[in-house]
Amino acid sequence: MSSIVTLKRRQILIGAAAAALAPSLPALAQNARLVITPGQTEGPFYPVSFPADMDGDLVRVQGREAQAMGQVAHVVGRVLNRRGEPVKGATLEIWQCDANGIYNHPRQPGLQRRDAAFQGYGRTLAADDGRYGFRTIRPVPYPGRTPHIHFKVHAPGAGRLTTQMYIAGERQNATDGLLNGIRDKAARESVIVRLDPEDATEPGAVKGTFDIVLDI
Ligand SMILES: [Fe+2]
Repeated sequence: MSSIVTLKRRQILIGAAAAALAPSLPALAQNARLVITPGQTEGPFYPVSFPADMDGDLVRVQGREAQAMGQVAHVVGRVLNRRGEPVKGATLEIWQCDANGIYNHPRQPGLQRRDAAFQGYGRTLAADDGRYGFRTIRPVPYPGRTPHIHFKVHAPGAGRLTTQMYIAGERQNATDGLLNGIRDKAARESVIVRLDPEDATEPGAVKGTFDIVLDI
């Protein structure tokens, strides 16, 4: 009998302790996840002139019937400040090479082999809750680089972040100089995104989530 009372009292005490801790747990968990997205070089292929069509769907170029070569990838996420709040009015730009590893840029060797059905560059505005989305192609490697998508994020009145998004599981991630130049492990992992099949949205497509945390 007394052992049951003791057990019950212990359960109550454990319950009370858990309740006392409970309010801080979500905050701790949230803070633990908030890694400031590291900056990365812009690289040599930021557009010198912008395409007529520069929306958030890089797979289709207005006025062209053909769709870009490559596997369609939906890249979504949120733009947040260091407290995890959405950054309202953020503009996002992305640019990447086509399925043949060719950027739409005058300095690109082999530019004549470019896939003209791939937009190569796109921009979009984050919604009030910080969410954004691009429809593009799964990035491919090119000589000296593991697959990546270049990002530039402009936060109104708070400057900009230039970075690159990488793909989980790519063999060349282990040797890519720019990716491994991010010495902090958590920061490095924060720019590596898993792509999962997204057949429900679009047959054959993949989808990944890249949340961008600005140091503001
Ligand atoms: Fe690049």
